[in-house]
Amino acid sequence: MSDTTENVWSPTLRWLHFGLALAVTLQLFLSLVMEEPGEAEGLETWAFMAHELFGLTAFALALLHWGWMLGGHDGGWRHLFPWDRQGWRAVWRDLSGLLRGCLPEGGPHPGLPGLVEGLGLVLVTLQGASGFAIFLLLPPEGGLPERFEFLSELHEVFGSGVWLYWFGHVGMALLHRLRGDAVVARISPFKSR
Ligand code: HEM
Ligand code: HEM
Repeated sequence: MSDTTENVWSPTLRWLHFGLALAVTLQLFLSLVMEEPGEAEGLETWAFMAHELFGLTAFALALLHWGWMLGGHDGGWRHLFPWDRQGWRAVWRDLSGLLRGCLPEGGPHPGLPGLVEGLGLVLVTLQGASGFAIFLLLPPEGGLPERFEFLSELHEVFGSGVWLYWFGHVGMALLHRLRGDAVVARISPFKSR
């Protein structure tokens, strides 16, 4: 088990988060430039190849994240998915604090930030899984077979969810930063705390 008593993330979790945050952010911005094979020209083709590469990387990192969490490290899965009364009480405490203008503290324990981050991880995993299926089925000349087109539709729906999560999550991190809280320093692999 990691050092959860001091509200400190382990170095492994910090590096995993750094890789995932970087890969998913690149994915979102690449999706604005690229086009599918068959329709793409010049930069759009390169952007699509990069989207495949970073997409597979993001999916692999998301799976590693699940493995790390299910192994009980950094608060385990219970801090992302509060299933018992104690967990829900912590979420409720954070919510009522928010209504009074207090930002939740965050860290590797149950609460509102953990729950939202857990839902974000589920979304990114679904996005990565649908992307991986597209990667296996998409012919080099482009155009998924008709019976697999639902995968593109799912990828689009999850994509909107990931954008929403990205704005919310990064927005909250910035808000904490502006208020002088150490949440970003705590998750950064480049800071000792
Ligand atoms: C879109 C890509 C991202 C995903 C999928 C993601 C996901 C997560 C997850 C799952 C956690 C909880 C760690 C754990 O328990 O396993 C977390 C925490 C955190 N993330 Fe991200 N993250 C992303 C991008 C970012 C970015 C760009 C920032 C900007 C600084 C950021 C800042 C933070 C901070 C400060 C925490 C700690 C919050 C707390 O203490 O509860 N994340 N993130
Ligand atoms: C977690 C990883 C990934 C993220 C966050 C992501 C994100 C996105 C987003 C936001 C879009 C735009 C959706 C829209 O049309 O509104 C998109 C499109 C697409 N992605 Fe991904 N993606 C990921 C992985 C992959 C992988 C591994 C592939 C492999 C082939 C892939 C293939 C595609 C394709 C074919 C499109 C449609 C392109 C177009 O018609 O313009 N994605 N992705």
